[in-house]
Amino acid sequence: MSSDFEMLILEVEDSRIATISINRPKQLNALNNQVFEELDSALDQIEKDESIRALIITGSGEKAFVAGADIKEFADFDKEQATKLSKRGHKVFQKIEDLSIPVLAAINGYALGGGFELALSCHFRVASKAAVLGLPEVSLGLIPGYGGTQRLTKLVGYSKALELIMSGRFVKAEEAFQLGLINSIAEGDISEASKKMLSGMIKQAPLALKNAILAVKEAGNDSGYEMEANLFGDLFNTADFKEGTSAFMEKRKPNFSGK
Ligand code: CAA
Repeated sequence: MSSDFEMLILEVEDSRIATISINRPKQLNALNNQVFEELDSALDQIEKDESIRALIITGSGEKAFVAGADIKEFADFDKEQATKLSKRGHKVFQKIEDLSIPVLAAINGYALGGGFELALSCHFRVASKAAVLGLPEVSLGLIPGYGGTQRLTKLVGYSKALELIMSGRFVKAEEAFQLGLINSIAEGDISEASKKMLSGMIKQAPLALKNAILAVKEAGNDSGYEMEANLFGDLFNTADFKEGTSAFMEKRKPNFSGK
């Protein structure tokens, strides 16, 4: 796996959990063109590497997860450039959401604008006690452009999403938890808390996790139940299904191969 990146750090531990740290701490990890290019390429590498069972996305430094899209980079953009910027963000964040392994945002500080939208594209969010989340785009004369209008609405419903988007207000970790914006608040070290949450998942059958992601994504669509039945059925053809059921009957722990 290449770690040939300037604006992010990609690490993989023995435990098979990869971590991508957006690494522009002086700019509070704001997302510029290069960050997107490197993120796109890191996601491709992760997707191809079958030994990686989970991904954590976080921000370098003490202060921020990601403080948004790089305002200085797009300040002079016209409509066409801005639409393209938004669509590129959609594409990369969709790639995160579509990964077949669990993806967790470890929100270690400010998660604002595009940074919050990045966290929303992950399957799970764990925040430090000092984390601050928000979509302040309206204060710049904008709306969220990296999928926030869609994903936040799915997460908390129409009225709450509009309230957060139209006020642009900042939400601290405790309120974020009450609102359902995050799964948990890390008591101690956020990296440890994130790995602890993922460690229970990576013990499970990888193809079952993959199909769970695909099935849950269909929730609310007419095709959801049909999709669930097919994905459920597909798993009966896997070696891991045989292993899981055998292990249950033999009263031992399963040893999954991902096949
Ligand atoms: N873009 C570019 N640079 C940013 C940035 C951003 N989103 N956020 C912070 N920075 C830079 C600052 O300009 C500053 O750089 P300099 O030292 O060169 O001036 C450095 O990071 C440190 O920031 P501050 O001095 O502002 O730190 P602070 O502690 O006083 O404030 C903050 C922290 C409240 C997070 C503040 O930086 C802030 O409000 N940032 C912008 C947040 C924002 O509006 N995000 C939305 C961006 S638009 C977007 O994301 C659109 C979209 O949906 C696609």
